[in-house]
Amino acid sequence: MAENLNIPATEDRRERYTALLPQIESLVNGESDPVANMANVAAALKETFGFFWVGFYRVAGRELVLGPFQGTLACTRIGFGKGVCGTDWKERKSQLVPDVNLFPGHIACSSASKSEVVIPIFDGGGNVSGVLDIDSDKPDDFTAVDVECLERLVRAIGDRIF
Ligand code: SME
Repeated sequence: MAENLNIPATEDRRERYTALLPQIESLVNGESDPVANMANVAAALKETFGFFWVGFYRVAGRELVLGPFQGTLACTRIGFGKGVCGTDWKERKSQLVPDVNLFPGHIACSSASKSEVVIPIFDGGGNVSGVLDIDSDKPDDFTAVDVECLERLVRAIGDRIF
């Protein structure tokens, strides 16, 4: 298993995601434990982009429960339809939030968080099994490129992380 990431020295996020994706795939394909894989995926995204908070929430009954993450302490449980993550689960689609203060019902785990992107993760039966949540301490830090590349990432490794 590669223990170091090889990421091009460019500010272009698409290029960085493109380099990162196969390295994450090879990382998770070598390990069958979903918790270990979620932990390394969160670390790889944090290391590559320096995001303020990167982590997973898993569906457990009618709530999302905090999974492996990189960043500051976070809320452990989020209800269906609540906050950005619960909305993502309910609507079954990615949420791109340029200003978290303008998102009705946003759950502020940290006042440092300014913008956010959340990607749903589907199981083989098409149900949401969890979400990938990324927060930035910069406003308007995410674009459609992040959504597209992160959706591709979770599609590629979905069966290895849940
Ligand atoms: N802001 C999220 C809660 C999770 S933390 O950002 C880690 C939300 O509104 O769902």
